[in-house]
Formats: sequence, C-alpha cells, structure tokens
Amino acid sequence: MDLIADHISHRFGVLEVLDDVSFAVSAGEVVAIVGPSGCGKSTLLSILGGLLQSTAGTAELRGAPPADSLNPLTFVFQDFALLPWCNVEDNVAFPLSHTGLSAGARGALVDDALRRTGLSDFRATYPKQLSGGMRQRVGIARALAVKPAMLLMDEPLSALDSQTRELLMEDFIRLLADGAMGAVYVTHNLEEAVRLADRIVVLSRRPGRIREVVTIPMTRGQRSDVNARGQLLALQDQLWSLIREEAIDAEREVQHA
Ligand SMILES: Nc1ncnc2c1ncn2[C@@H]1O[C@H](COP(=O)(O)OP(=O)(O)O)[C@@H](O)[C@H]1O
Ligand SMILES: [Mg+2]
Repeated sequence: MDLIADHISHRFGVLEVLDDVSFAVSAGEVVAIVGPSGCGKSTLLSILGGLLQSTAGTAELRGAPPADSLNPLTFVFQDFALLPWCNVEDNVAFPLSHTGLSAGARGALVDDALRRTGLSDFRATYPKQLSGGMRQRVGIARALAVKPAMLLMDEPLSALDSQTRELLMEDFIRLLADGAMGAVYVTHNLEEAVRLADRIVVLSRRPGRIREVVTIPMTRGQRSDVNARGQLLALQDQLWSLIREEAIDAEREVQHA
C-alpha cells in the first residue's frame, strides 16, 4: 500500500498554508517531513491521514493494505493523547473496542503491542504514574494494536528530553526494522530525520512548498554504527543550510491573527 500526496495545496481562510506538495511513500518506507515552524507540516499530515480535506489536490492510498490491518493509516501524536482514567492495557485496547473482534482476538493484539513496546509489565499502570517516554510508548502501542500499514507521526518525540528521545528513536528503529510498516514522520528535529527516514522532504516556510527531497544513502542499521556519525552530521548540516534562513524569518514573523 502506497500513500500519495498529489499536488496538495491548502488554505485556512486567506492564510495560504501549503502550495502544490507532491510526493509518495511506498510500503515499508519512512519519509520525514521537516521545515520551519508554522510551514504546514501538521496540516499536511492531517490531510494525508484524511482528517482534513485539502483545498486542492488529493491524498490517496494506492494498493491494498495488508489483510490483517484494522486501520492502515494510524496517528501517533506529540502529546500522546492517552485517556487518563484508563490504565495502559485499556488505553491500548481502546481503538479495538468497535472492531467487532472477539475478546480473545483483541487481547492477543493488545498483548503483542505491549510486548513490542516493552510495556508488558505495565498493563495495570495509569498514565499519570508513567514518565513521558513510557507514556509515548503507550501511544505507540495503541497505534500498533490496530496493525497499521503506515504510522503518521507528528513530532512524536518533541515533548521528551534528549535521553528519552534517544531511547525512543532506538525503539522506532527496532519497530521499523522488518520493513512491514512505513511511516510519515513530521519533525523539526533534523537528527531524528536523518536517523529514521529513508527520504526527507524539506518544506519552505509558509506556504509550505517542497524545497528539496534528500535521500539518506544508508540503512537504518548502518546509521547506528559510530563510524556513520560524521556522515549523519554532514547530512544534518546540509538540511540545516536549506532551512536556516527560513527558520529565522519564520521565527521573526509577527502574527496578525
Ligand atoms: N485550523 C486552523 N485554522 C486556521 N489556521 C490554522 C489552523 N491550523 C493551523 N493553522 C495555521 O496554519 C499554519 C500552519 O500550521 P501547522 O500545519 O500546524 O504548521 P507546523 O506543523 O509546520 O508548525 C500556521 O500558521 C497555523 O497557525
Ligand atoms: Mg506541527
């Protein structure tokens, strides 16, 4: 199953947010979207996930999703979006409640998602008892429970401190390793982009247009090697040089709303 952004433009009233954005994400591929604050990254992800109708152009799925997928495109949010009154197990089971699956089948999906995220011992714990990193693992487990073909992630690590971010990046690399699941990964963090993505779509400041698409010429496994650090930093520099001027402009912009 491929996800295609076909000439997507969007405006909120008079505010032009996206301008003619086209790219494709194939099955199992990870595409990062980077760009200055306010350039339309979250808007683009909402359009790709069908939460928002674009003003022009379309987001399209091509090809059949895997047979066991209950929700081919599944979101992971920056603020985790957990239900505070439900424990970990119930949070992860929540999206399965209306699937018509038997209790046994739901339980098996929840067990599998908890195992893959290292949460099996935390089933009865409540979100407020958990660290930020563990809360986001619950968010990821909840997404995995519906067997997505593609995760749509909006700054999933941005609320976390740098050590926790590093650990969750390692989790993502492990979860993506078998190539069964792809992702669109929105971030303003260039290190996350070069560590996780196969390709990086660089957007201009608002209205977001594609400035460049950078391909990372290494497998994710190779990038974990210490010897790859220099090359990854060079890629980060290349991205930063594309974004820097516009990030300065974006930051200095006065909101007239
Ligand atoms: N629902 C909305 N109504 C009006 N303006 C919006 C809405 N959502 C986002 N915006 C504006 O659209 C622009 C792009 O927002 P967003 O996609 O969240 O940017 P990013 O995720 O790249 O920081 C911003 O200027 C934001 O204020
Ligand atoms: Mg955003």
